[in-house]
Amino acid sequence: MIDLDAKIPNNVGLSEDRKLQKALEAWQPDFIDWWVDMGPDGFQADDIYLRTAVSVEPSGWAHFEHVKMPDYRWGIFLTPGAEDRLIPFGDELGKPTWDRVPGDWRTELRRIIVTQGDTEPASVEQQRQLGNTAPSLYDLRNLFQVNVEEGRHLWAMVYLLHKYFGRDGREEAEDMLVRRSGHVDNPRILGAFNEPIDDWLSFFCFTMFTDRDGKYQLGALAESGFDPLARTCRFMLTEEAHHMFVGETGMRRIVQRTCELMKEAPAEDVTVLGGLPLDLIQRYVNRWYSVSMDLFGGEDSSNAATYFAAGLKGRFREEADKTITDHVALEGVYEAAAPGTTGAVESKEIPLRRAMNLILRDGYKEDCQRGVDKWNKILATAGIDFQITLPHERFHRAQGIWSSHHYDPEGNLLSAQEWEQQVQDWLPTEEDERYVKSLMKPVYEPGKIASWIAPPKRGINHQSFDFEYVKFADDPYVR
Ligand SMILES: [Fe+2]
Ligand SMILES: [Fe+2]
Repeated sequence: MIDLDAKIPNNVGLSEDRKLQKALEAWQPDFIDWWVDMGPDGFQADDIYLRTAVSVEPSGWAHFEHVKMPDYRWGIFLTPGAEDRLIPFGDELGKPTWDRVPGDWRTELRRIIVTQGDTEPASVEQQRQLGNTAPSLYDLRNLFQVNVEEGRHLWAMVYLLHKYFGRDGREEAEDMLVRRSGHVDNPRILGAFNEPIDDWLSFFCFTMFTDRDGKYQLGALAESGFDPLARTCRFMLTEEAHHMFVGETGMRRIVQRTCELMKEAPAEDVTVLGGLPLDLIQRYVNRWYSVSMDLFGGEDSSNAATYFAAGLKGRFREEADKTITDHVALEGVYEAAAPGTTGAVESKEIPLRRAMNLILRDGYKEDCQRGVDKWNKILATAGIDFQITLPHERFHRAQGIWSSHHYDPEGNLLSAQEWEQQVQDWLPTEEDERYVKSLMKPVYEPGKIASWIAPPKRGINHQSFDFEYVKFADDPYVR
């Protein structure tokens, strides 16, 4: 039941709701204006080998062809609803899910949807200059794929706002196109989405670590008792998997290239050959992982407890994960740690519902570690005595219980002075940033690649690496 020929492709029966259809068709040109203004800088006239969602069936939902980005078919797709789905957790466990907004939770639901929705255009804005320094056509295409899908995720959230929240929902949808990443007066909602991402090491770290927070947030919302939100998030997760892939394999290819260059370079100094040193890569991992940890919210959180109790936001795979047996979570505690007044680490028991952010984050941590393990295999196979590590949850935090003290990457408490003395070993320095930027030179010939990253094992959609993933309208080097 997917209508691909409609002005707005959809499987939500948009043509049967004329009022909603009109409202969204009025929002559509504003979205395109935003895309042209704030989407990838340049490249809007080029033909990009993109995948478009054409079905919501797990088998064969995507179609690949060369399209100009402003012509991308952004649509509204929900995973089909299971008949008679029941609320899988919280105080309303086992009752029928809601197909409209429950009056008691209208404000909370709107806040959840707006906060999630705002990150989608924010990341497009953060990444808008990256195309100008792409290491290969394959990577350029992947960047744009991520960007157009983040645009579609905005559509997904805007649909919910328009359909279920009336006038204030429509106003929120307009504001999504008004806020700007990094703007002094009108920034994006979450701090991490206001920093530009203008080098590709940061981009791969972002898609590895920050986008993965998105995966976990969507996973928790995919359990929601508000069924349209659950189904929207389920479909978003299928697209999100590619974003994780871009980040994880991007980093893996960088590590692999560094290993190769270490064998060639005198004294293993890869900088003479235009490579990224392992200790520098580690500092970028430290930065992006710690910034992403901040996105999960407070470790001991009354909001998290409320959202769980109300059936708005569950745990990751609450319903499918058979190891989760208690879906009420009124009893029991989560064993955690907390800082005493001096910052020293003390053990703490958090009532289960209040610990939901932390539980989600601990799942995220394991997921990150699985990816890092793959990078470390490459190092081990190359016989290089270095392992990439995820810093401790206490390291470099700006939010949550650890943010008022300093800790090293192993989680040991430090004085402010000790922190100052060593921070340049742990977080990217200005010199690191200058060096990384110096390597960011575009490579736009099919089959060619920059010095600091290895080509992928496979291309996209069974194409080879030297496939012309982007067909330029004019010479991309002289723009
Ligand atoms: Fe997204
Ligand atoms: Fe994403």
